[in-house]
Amino acid sequence: MQILDGRKASQAIKNELKIEVAQLVVEGKKVPHLAAILVGNDGASETYVASKVKTCEEIGFKSTLIRYDNDVSEYKLLEKIEELNHDPDVDGILVQLPLPKHVGDENVINAIDPDKDVDGFHPVSVGRMVQGLPTYIPATPHGIMLLLEHYKIETKGKHAVVIGRSNIVGRPMSVLLSSNSNPGNCTVTICHSQTKNLKELCLQADIIVAAIGKPDYVTADMVKEGTVIVDVGITRVEDKSKKSGFRLKGDVDFENVSSKCSWITPVPGGVGPMTIAALMKNTFRSCMQKN
Ligand code: GUN
Repeated sequence: MQILDGRKASQAIKNELKIEVAQLVVEGKKVPHLAAILVGNDGASETYVASKVKTCEEIGFKSTLIRYDNDVSEYKLLEKIEELNHDPDVDGILVQLPLPKHVGDENVINAIDPDKDVDGFHPVSVGRMVQGLPTYIPATPHGIMLLLEHYKIETKGKHAVVIGRSNIVGRPMSVLLSSNSNPGNCTVTICHSQTKNLKELCLQADIIVAAIGKPDYVTADMVKEGTVIVDVGITRVEDKSKKSGFRLKGDVDFENVSSKCSWITPVPGGVGPMTIAALMKNTFRSCMQKN
């Protein structure tokens, strides 16, 4: 078993971006600017957004964090998005999900200018991705594709089983793995809560992407020898021995699965850092369209 090391691979991407940003500065050009909107105080969302802002600083991007209380109105959010859409200095807009229940995710996502939709959630971005046209690819599946590319994992003609059908991970992942590209060209099975023969399907998989948010869901008896495993899960489970009071657990029972597979992403340090690197790549791309 070998580790798909997201920390290492994302560092390589960040180093490249850092050099490109430094070059923009030398040329007196505008540097990429990411605006992030965070609503409420959800611990996990706070951590993700803080990490996105910190990475911007690390590689020389500008970032703006806009925070709202949990009771912010949808109207106020839409107004802010409109302002950011028209701000020529802002290249990328992200609204951290989930949003409070009284706010319609769809209305908020649809309000973002597709040219600044670095999260790739706008229907225009999704449509372009499905058609194989250049666009912003959602950060997590984009990061996974970059990780497979970094480690030169052969995907052509392989059977990939994606567990989970969310708009953020599972569904775009299934599109990318089946696309006529490298990585890509997989035969894809997408599984979800209503799938009846999950174990049987997983046992046929050459590649498994687990994105269901249930700790240790994929067990050793579901995995054949030599499978490539990508674990998107990052559930917080109580751990009194940690200062934070919790530790992160993936969707895959790493301890028992790792001896069977050929490659596997650790949690943490696998998909998470790649997600951030992919978001930075999208923001850089948006900036370059203006520079
Ligand atoms: N919540 C979980 N993943 C994501 C992501 O990639 N982008 C945003 N905006 N929110 C998320």
